[in-house]
Amino acid sequence: MSDILVHAEDGVMTLTLNRLARKNSLTADMYAALAEAITQARDDASVRVVLLQGHETVFCAGNDIGDFLNAPASSEDAPVFRFLRGIAAFPKPLLAAVCGPAVGIGTTMLFHCDLVYAGDNAAFSMPFVNLGLCPEAASSLLVPQMLGYHRAAEALMLGEPFMAEAALEVGLVNRVLTPTEANAYASAQARKLAAKPITSLVETKRLMKGGQQQAVLQRMAEEAESFGRMLKAPAAKEAFTAFMEKRKPDFSKV
Ligand code: COA
Repeated sequence: MSDILVHAEDGVMTLTLNRLARKNSLTADMYAALAEAITQARDDASVRVVLLQGHETVFCAGNDIGDFLNAPASSEDAPVFRFLRGIAAFPKPLLAAVCGPAVGIGTTMLFHCDLVYAGDNAAFSMPFVNLGLCPEAASSLLVPQMLGYHRAAEALMLGEPFMAEAALEVGLVNRVLTPTEANAYASAQARKLAAKPITSLVETKRLMKGGQQQAVLQRMAEEAESFGRMLKAPAAKEAFTAFMEKRKPDFSKV
């Protein structure tokens, strides 16, 4: 079974994260598969809507920590950046169904989605600081815009999880359902959108994004430069090694 399942039906391409043994954490191969599917969805007229989903127990545990340690993204053409630019510039409706933990990029990718449906077990977190890193996916721009500066600082500096109801309150999530309902509900909403005129959907999305796309791509590139540097620095090395060794990190010497 592939770690990314791609299924297209009735104008909806559903991308399912399927690496449950590692809590749907994302490897370079998974980003590459996602980036390729997003490009195909953009170019294929038979695809009108894309839905990203995980499992009812976990959406995504973020980047694979082993990859962070041993095979970090090293150029702007790395699969992770192709995926992020792909969703940031995706012209058609992009939906997500989120249950359980959504860590790091598992949360930041949602700021590029048009509609997000959550299970009541969803727990969103952006623990970049706790890993010796900094925000990515233009989250340093988009999180303050959506949450307001102080709540964004809480989310991005403390990095503690916030639950589905809090995400609903700040507008990151459209609706909270039971975990067993979330994927099916998102899928029904996606099919509803796929039946609408695609020209109107694309134009509406373009207008709502309000010409911010360049700023988003520019911020992503700026963040990627810092993130790449910080991945190799002592604080991140200590955080990743501690995760692998199942102990608390010790930042007292970094
Ligand atoms: N990269 C690599 N492996 C990961 C992973 C990741 N991001 N997240 C989880 N795993 C692995 C665990 O090491 C564990 O492996 P093991 O079975 O060999 O011990 C397995 O997946 C199950 O994870 P576990 O932590 O036991 O599950 P949990 O239900 O207790 O907790 C999470 C789930 C997502 C809350 C927790 O795994 C977690 O915090 N993961 C790290 C998230 C992270 O920091 N990501 C980077 C963000 S930038």
